[in-house]
Amino acid sequence: MLHKLHRISALLISLYVLFHLTNHVIALYGVEAHIRFMEGFRPIYRATLIEPILLLCALFQVGSGITFIVRRWGQRRGFFDHAQAISGGYLAFFLVFHVSAVLYGRLVQGLDTNFFFAAAGLQPRAYPIFFVPYYTLAVVAYFTHLACGLRWVLQKHLSTQFLNRAAGGVMTVGFILGLTIVSTFSGTYYPIALPSEYCLNKC
Ligand code: HEM
Repeated sequence: MLHKLHRISALLISLYVLFHLTNHVIALYGVEAHIRFMEGFRPIYRATLIEPILLLCALFQVGSGITFIVRRWGQRRGFFDHAQAISGGYLAFFLVFHVSAVLYGRLVQGLDTNFFFAAAGLQPRAYPIFFVPYYTLAVVAYFTHLACGLRWVLQKHLSTQFLNRAAGGVMTVGFILGLTIVSTFSGTYYPIALPSEYCLNKC
């Protein structure tokens, strides 16, 4: 039952993540493009009925995911079984800190948690040593977890060799996507003029 709910909740979160990561890739076209897309998409995921469901799903995903890791501690065998637990563990850590930071920024600091909010920590004078792996690994972990989950669901229908290759391909896409997003927000492709209210250190 808990597995079934974990999969349903993962599906709902994935709908959001699909748009969320698309939003971040759009930043390749500039800060304005990223903010315009986010502002168009916010009335949907921030709707009174939708946002609490999304946040509850994130909370449930963290709780149920940690339960699975603890229950099967020491019993996992093989690369994909371990990759699923490690990526799930990282996603649990990331979701707790990421969603708390966004809600704190929005509700306590009164910030618009837009492009600049995410870019702030990645600027050379801020804390890129922490934030580059923090965000890159989140995207890698999301794709790894998805690949391992799909591999498990499809194992009765497709050959192991095909599934292993497909899972490897999905994980590679996650790595490239993570690096693309993080390099964009770090200011690799155009200069980022961070408004003073977002500065974590000297701007
Ligand atoms: C490079 C990666 C990422 C960056 C730069 C990033 C940045 C952001 C930003 C700026 C917001 C605030 C959105 C707003 O104010 O409307 C946000 C919200 C959020 N992000 Fe991410 N994110 C990243 C990856 C992820 C991943 C991989 C997940 C999930 C697995 C995720 C889950 C969420 C959730 C649940 C919210 C809260 C949505 C809400 O406002 O209710 N993010 N993120």
